[in-house]
Amino acid sequence: MTISVLFVCLGNICRSPLAEAALRHECAQADVSCIVDSAGTADWHAGNAPDDRTVAVAARNGVEAGHLRARQVRAADFRDFDHIIALDQQNLQDLRKVQPKDATAQLSLLLDHVEGQTGQDVADPYYGNDASFDETWLQVTAAARTLVRKFST
Ligand code: 4NP
Repeated sequence: MTISVLFVCLGNICRSPLAEAALRHECAQADVSCIVDSAGTADWHAGNAPDDRTVAVAARNGVEAGHLRARQVRAADFRDFDHIIALDQQNLQDLRKVQPKDATAQLSLLLDHVEGQTGQDVADPYYGNDASFDETWLQVTAAARTLVRKFST
């Protein structure tokens, strides 16, 4: 069975592309089949490559992210994906607002999947520095590892 996951943050240029890259990497490592994408609740960066610091932190960890392109979440996503996973509470709330009536995707908060971090946000590194992006990478990687374990049991 192939599980599909859409990660959602605000701009789709920092956190959710990193979650996408991390989960794709962890699935490949574990030989688990999954479809992964990411989107933003905002359309500000639609069509753009990720932030340079996003591409750089992924590369520091041996993962390619420069080919990703931002897009806004759309109604069809709520039917097309098994899971839609928000990077923070605000984006989870915003997803609930635009969720269509016939949605089948399970909505959740990313760090609800990580023991001891329930209810926590992945902090936005956009106004931070390289260390902020390193912290984001650690958070999304920990979550990706937990998701892979869940998907493979
Ligand atoms: P993201 O970060 O939601 O993790 O992609 C942001 C990217 C851009 C902006 C805010 C947050 N922005 O204000 O343009």
